[in-house]
Amino acid sequence: MKILGKFPSTRLRRVRNSDWVRRLISESNLSANDLILPIFIRDGYNKIEEIKSMPGVKRYSLDRISKILDQAERFKIPMIAIFPYTPEKKKNNNGLEALNENNLVCRSLRLIKKKYKKFGVMTDVALDPYTSHGHDGILINGKIDNDKTLDVLNNQALLQASMGSDVIAPSDMMDGRIGSIRKYLEKNKFVDTKILSYAVKYASSFYGPFRDAVGSKKKLKGDKKTYQMDIRNYNEAIREVGLDIKEGADFVMVKPGMPYLDIISLIKQNFKVPVFSYQVSGEYSMIINAIKNKNLNKDSIYESLICLKRAGSNAIVTYFALDIAKRIKSI
Ligand code: PBG
Repeated sequence: MKILGKFPSTRLRRVRNSDWVRRLISESNLSANDLILPIFIRDGYNKIEEIKSMPGVKRYSLDRISKILDQAERFKIPMIAIFPYTPEKKKNNNGLEALNENNLVCRSLRLIKKKYKKFGVMTDVALDPYTSHGHDGILINGKIDNDKTLDVLNNQALLQASMGSDVIAPSDMMDGRIGSIRKYLEKNKFVDTKILSYAVKYASSFYGPFRDAVGSKKKLKGDKKTYQMDIRNYNEAIREVGLDIKEGADFVMVKPGMPYLDIISLIKQNFKVPVFSYQVSGEYSMIINAIKNKNLNKDSIYESLICLKRAGSNAIVTYFALDIAKRIKSI
């Protein structure tokens, strides 16, 4: 690339010296359209409970969930993502609660889709909220079985679609998920159900607070390195995304966000498909705790999101979604 211009005929500060000109030449923007709001749900009545490791984020019982959904609608959030906290007694080795049509996710989908028409609802397709060992798949002789888990996931995806889920998000990073679920949805006439593939999800330590939030942390023995991606890898992300697009994904996700900006940019440049990123629980906790301790100010939230946009994200899953949507509106 040729560098043009020479001081003093070129002074780059000339186009930085007032707010209007900075706005005029801004290369990335963040609006409510870019935000996906994750919501944690739980059993019981009249419960809105704090999650210790994620200050400001709460778990809602279904009778109180309108408190947060009304705000999502008011601030024009285009999509929410539901994550269930499953009581221990409903977990087993095979995660069969995933297929219960009255499980928490199914009940919440029926309720939300009846009352709220303005945003889409996305649901995770994976077994980790439901397994007694905390892994995303079925454990057979100490190994996570790729293909046996797939049968359960097909049915979990179909069940969620039939309850009204708009976007199915297979998140276990095992092989053959997208193709198999897409085929199964087509066969059952769910041709409009969208699939968001967690195509590039790293075996990251930044998921710690989330596992707390959904109650799978204490349970998890070992790590998820046999299915989630190696944090040292770059080129492998291209293979993951390529396969999932071929198999029928509508959107792909890179996760976590800020530690993987190079990957977001790589995927955006190589594939002309919508790329989402996930600012995960550990990123949220880091920033919110630094703000609470007065090590950072609140502008750090915007900065942590705009960098994901600059890298190439079309939309961002973030626990700051409502907070930032309110702030954008008031600017
Ligand atoms: C699990 C799942 C995880 C997250 C979303 N879905 C965690 C994991 O893989 O253990 C993490 C989200 C976050 O950390 O905010 N299928």
